[in-house]
Amino acid sequence: MSITTTAASAIRMPPASEAHLVLEGLTLRYGARVAVARTDLTIPRHRVTAIIGPSGVGKSTLLRALNRLHELVPGAGVEGRVLLDGDDIYGPEVDPILLRRRVGMVFQQPNPLATRSIAQNVTIGLELVGAPRRERMMAVEWALRRAALWDEVRDRLDQPATSLSGGQQQRLCIARALAVRPEVILMDEPASALDPIATARIEDLIAELAREFTIVIVTHNMQQAARVADFTVFMTQNEDGAGHVVEAGPTREIFTAPRDRRTEDYITGRVG
Ligand SMILES: Nc1ncnc2c1ncn2[C@@H]1O[C@H](COP(=O)(O)OP(=O)(O)OP(=O)(O)O)[C@@H](O)[C@H]1O
Ligand SMILES: [Mg+2]
Repeated sequence: MSITTTAASAIRMPPASEAHLVLEGLTLRYGARVAVARTDLTIPRHRVTAIIGPSGVGKSTLLRALNRLHELVPGAGVEGRVLLDGDDIYGPEVDPILLRRRVGMVFQQPNPLATRSIAQNVTIGLELVGAPRRERMMAVEWALRRAALWDEVRDRLDQPATSLSGGQQQRLCIARALAVRPEVILMDEPASALDPIATARIEDLIAELAREFTIVIVTHNMQQAARVADFTVFMTQNEDGAGHVVEAGPTREIFTAPRDRRTEDYITGRVG
């Protein structure tokens, strides 16, 4: 049995001056089981950060802890801190509902509300907080333009969201996340249910969105990480099954000169 440790140099954080989110000793549990162990990480502002690694290492769990969705699972536990612009999102005064407006989420399967129109899907978040109609109507065009969907739907805003293709539905879900003007957008394998052309559109969109938003994306597709991410985080599992970060750094370095053997094995396809 060999025990591998992470060389300290394999974790290269962006400078603190670029930090938008900072994870400090973050441990995430399901009941007694540790899914993600003592994670320290800096996520840079207005950049795309990709989280990669084999199935079951806790990538989605880590992502969901960044907008406090993890705690909705019965028995879930959180230790450590997640600082958003320096303030702990797990602090006693933080309202998770308001936090989730600042840190939005896009899921693997496009999940528009089937009973609502395209426009109503975009405005649902604003409706829930009682935004006036005028504000909601302005948000429709603003968010659909940013989600690179406006030109395709401007003449059919009242049609059901389900009348859109899968790729359009996912861009609608991105528009819905954008409409409340978040600072950070979490994306869990946002293109894995889409064909290559729709995937390419989402990738272009992600690069565009990073001008205004901080993006954290989980992906199984290493070419996708290499294409879209500025910064890449590789996770794997300890022998006891707890996920942790093995290596992090600028994407080009991770893919061309990984410092940890486990990263190299994964990106060259020897494992995972
Ligand atoms: N709701 C849950 N209740 C209990 N255990 C869970 C729950 N969700 C995930 N887990 C466990 O936590 C571990 C990490 O799961 P997670 O979904 O975060 O992995 P992942 O890296 O996203 O995997 P994949 O690449 O397959 O999506 C796994 O062992 C999983 O079985
Ligand atoms: Mg997952």
